[in-house]
Amino acid sequence: MTIEADQIPVVELDDLGSHNTTRRERATSALRRAFGEFGLVYVRGHGIEGATLDDFYTAFLDFTARPEAEKERVARPDIWYQRGWTPPNTERAVIAGGQPDFKECYFAAPEPFDPIARVQYPQIFADNVWPENAPGFKDGLLSLGHSLHEVGLKLLRGCAMALGLPPYGFEELVYGGPHVTRALRYLPLRADQVNTGILWGEEHTDFNLLTLLPGGRFFDPAGAGCRKPDEESGLWLRTRATPSDPKGRMVAGRAPDGCVVAQVGQQLEILTGGTFLATPHVIRAPGAPGYSRTAVAHFIHARSMAVLFPMEPFRSDDVLAAYSPPVLAGTYGTKTLVDIGLAPVEALNQLGYRHYDRLDGQRNG
Ligand SMILES: [Fe+2]
Repeated sequence: MTIEADQIPVVELDDLGSHNTTRRERATSALRRAFGEFGLVYVRGHGIEGATLDDFYTAFLDFTARPEAEKERVARPDIWYQRGWTPPNTERAVIAGGQPDFKECYFAAPEPFDPIARVQYPQIFADNVWPENAPGFKDGLLSLGHSLHEVGLKLLRGCAMALGLPPYGFEELVYGGPHVTRALRYLPLRADQVNTGILWGEEHTDFNLLTLLPGGRFFDPAGAGCRKPDEESGLWLRTRATPSDPKGRMVAGRAPDGCVVAQVGQQLEILTGGTFLATPHVIRAPGAPGYSRTAVAHFIHARSMAVLFPMEPFRSDDVLAAYSPPVLAGTYGTKTLVDIGLAPVEALNQLGYRHYDRLDGQRNG
């Protein structure tokens, strides 16, 4: 069953920070409903211009149009693709149907790092890499990432208010975290692939804390910008299960013009004991060949030394059981990157004691 997307609340960013109680309450109640029921909110008043996005997408498409061998020079399997170019068919959804991965991506970190985390998690806090001779690419991605990060921090302050937590409760948990901005290009389908059930992004929940999406662009088979080719394609999300809708409802993530979309990730779900639920979402491919789509996503993460466990006000017996045992956000990140096929399974060996061989060495002289 599907319902209209206009039921997803819109929040005015300025209202969240307003001293006017009516405005603030309007925004926090919208946020509670949006993140509680849909796991997603539309954000107005974020200050990111459509033209800034268009300029970046132009630079990004110039890069993706380069020969594969050239793009490989900024692909970094050694750091689990956490920076630079990710080729198609590299990543997989955790609950995947085994279909090919129809996207290529580019990762960069727009915020300063925690220097200790850089030693603890060298792949996740690696330096950015950039293609040569790509005007507008580096600055475009970094400045979009930074602007989206600021929007996310304001929303997190709003979330804390909406849930009656200390105002900086979430913000201090994310300070210095491995935040990353990703540019994506969903690849065109061939005629024989259309309407065969192929998805651009299989249904999944994001493993970070909060995801910000400033709005994608579609391109027709000739490469010109175009409107969404059909009503089915693009972002769809699944609402929370209820007794009458045990599977939840599939809702089109059709943001009103100019809105940023913000989505709840697994880390925010854990911290709120499921009061805010990570949004299952899927990117449906168009029902016509040759269309592609670009998008940007900024992922806010808990800092790596933060413990992922429900915060005190959310700890009922059921919630404690559902989100136990507690885990460090850095450990959680490594485990997830193995699950989605970006990190090698051996990375899990780093999560326990690593110096058993010292005893062997001592005993054997
Ligand atoms: Fe996602």
